[in-house]
Amino acid sequence: MKEDKDSKWFDVEFVPKDYIFPKEDQPRNIDSPVCDSIPVIDLSNSKADGHINPVESILTASQEIGFFQVINHGIPETIVNDAMNVLKEFFDMPSKKTHTTGWIYTSSTDYAKDGVHLWRENLKHPCHPIEDCIHLWPENPTRYQEVISAYLVEIQKLSSRILEMISEGLGLQSGYFKGMSEVQLLSSNLYPPCPDPSLTLGILPHQDPSLITLLYQSDSTGLQVMKDGQWVNVGAIPNAFVVNIGNQLEIISNGKLKSIKHRVVNNTHETRISIATFVNPSPDCIIEPAKVLVNELEPSQYTAKQYKEFVQCNKAFGDYTVALQNALKN
Ligand code: OGA
Ligand code: NI
Repeated sequence: MKEDKDSKWFDVEFVPKDYIFPKEDQPRNIDSPVCDSIPVIDLSNSKADGHINPVESILTASQEIGFFQVINHGIPETIVNDAMNVLKEFFDMPSKKTHTTGWIYTSSTDYAKDGVHLWRENLKHPCHPIEDCIHLWPENPTRYQEVISAYLVEIQKLSSRILEMISEGLGLQSGYFKGMSEVQLLSSNLYPPCPDPSLTLGILPHQDPSLITLLYQSDSTGLQVMKDGQWVNVGAIPNAFVVNIGNQLEIISNGKLKSIKHRVVNNTHETRISIATFVNPSPDCIIEPAKVLVNELEPSQYTAKQYKEFVQCNKAFGDYTVALQNALKN
């Protein structure tokens, strides 16, 4: 498909052929009601005595569903809204490719599977450390670098807090993830309205290769999680962050915490913008089940691997499932 200044690739009456997935990949039950089975966890009480401790809720959700949402997380609304607005502006620009040396995939260059395009536009760039990679980020909108830096500083703080709670819940020593976890990658998606969402996909089913992923989706739906063999919708809660367990944390927890498959389906009328931030181990870090979680009754289920080795195993974005299976001992 050609992208020119005046028309957008998604301003169409019918889904073009090269966006139609083979029958077996086409989403079904996309009209199922929004499911509220993804736990919503209030972080505001985490330090106060006598209140419900979110550590337990986080651990249960991570064990059972691998997904939860956090509210009262302490990230100022203005920082999040600024980030969303600057990304909206970015995706609105007519000629994005000329504006960045970072990694930008537009719909027409983003082949997902067998030459079929995803119904999305995507911007990806590295984030760690910010000062070393900021020059790779978009220069337009001119506020982009400043606004996104501020956002990432907050994401780093929140993710450290969540990882510390997970480490407490698992019974690991305090500070276990400190110094080994980095907000390495930002991946932002624009999912435009689609004439027939039953034929297309925004993102193919995949697991994240991260420790944890923090996702901001504002008040839009479209994210679906595999639960008990079915796709369930993740509800839209404005100002909440969706948190999910990635492959690396599944390994470190010796399989206690679940890295669950998810995907994004499209919408007929609404535009969805998401900001995914991947909190990953440092590249040289050796990933293996934590020593205190391995014993005679619960032997190690995974082979030790450097994080960079794991990622090299499967470079194709979106499908790290194979790499996780390779890490599993037989
Ligand atoms: C991802 C992801 C969901 C979304 O980038 O890994 O699952 O809503 N994104 O964009
Ligand atoms: Ni994902």
